[in-house]
Amino acid sequence: MARVVALTGGSGFIGGQIARMLVAQGCTVRALSRTQSGCKHGIEWVQGTLESPRALAELTAGANVVVHCAGAVRGRNVQSFHEANVEGSRRVMEAARKSGTCERFLHMSSLAARYPELSWYAKSKFDAEQQVISAAGDIKVGIFRPTAVYGPGDRELQPLFSWLLRGFLLRLGSAESRLSFVHVYDLVAAVLQWINSPIAKPATYEISDGTLGGYSWKDLAKIGADIRAAQVRQIAVSVVLLRLIARANLALSYVFRRPPMLTSSKVNELIHCDWTCSNRDITRAIGWVPRITLRRALQDRLF
Ligand SMILES: NC(=O)c1ccc[n+]([C@@H]2O[C@H](COP(=O)([O-])OP(=O)(O)OC[C@H]3O[C@@H](n4cnc5c(N)ncnc54)[C@H](OP(=O)(O)O)[C@@H]3O)[C@@H](O)[C@H]2O)c1
Repeated sequence: MARVVALTGGSGFIGGQIARMLVAQGCTVRALSRTQSGCKHGIEWVQGTLESPRALAELTAGANVVVHCAGAVRGRNVQSFHEANVEGSRRVMEAARKSGTCERFLHMSSLAARYPELSWYAKSKFDAEQQVISAAGDIKVGIFRPTAVYGPGDRELQPLFSWLLRGFLLRLGSAESRLSFVHVYDLVAAVLQWINSPIAKPATYEISDGTLGGYSWKDLAKIGADIRAAQVRQIAVSVVLLRLIARANLALSYVFRRPPMLTSSKVNELIHCDWTCSNRDITRAIGWVPRITLRRALQDRLF
């Protein structure tokens, strides 16, 4: 087991779960945060941002593993995603190399990186992967491309699933679209397994809950209906309406001074017709298999 793990994104949904798991496994966890400092819940917080080489040097000093999970998932334009995701990742890798102790670097990318042309976010995640790989030197890099992640602490998919269990499914995009999901506990288990695996060949892994062919909207409605033992009504949200909401949301983001989640660029991701993927490569490489299907998670309210 790694002795010292440097973690970015530890204050976020996925990074928070990774931090808790690493502490529970007995690792020394040093985590970057824009707001926290000191030692809390067994985590040593380093205050700073992805833009600060000084904070990143402090974060990575003496670490033998770096898990880079910070990233912008909301933004107004291509530059804001580029700065946080591409430049930010480059700086974290640079700090890891300068530390002289880092042997492994796990980069949390996204399945969206498979389609860089789709959105600002997708392009930034793809470009970040290239940056990390090209700057790695002797450090062994693992790139995780999870599909949509859900579970305790998530705010993006939670409303969709809550409404589904109340009998309403808001359908975005075509009825024929294929979706996929992965529970955060399974993703975190994959992170731990990768850190502990003897092989560390640089590789990129797509990650989902393993449901072959993913889920159609009809499948989601059926899961919801089975759990409720009552009907689920599908409500199709037209792309035109989605784009109008995205425009309004962008305008409001200036008023409330918060980066928007829904933009016209994001709509392209939401209506993309095929978000399925295969765990074959990661299972072969480190033996990880997901344990939690969406049906089980919804049944047991694991979200
Ligand atoms: N959630 C998903 O479905 C999903 C799917 C595939 C891939 N991913 C990837 O997984 C990673 C984590 O996503 P998440 O869902 O956990 O998002 P999240 O809850 O929004 O967390 C993002 C984290 O990144 C940190 N961060 C962002 N910009 C930063 C900066 N400039 N300097 C320092 N820290 C910064 C945030 O810090 P603050 O707390 O200070 O804001 C937060 O800790 C991202 O790289 C995302 O692209 C997520």
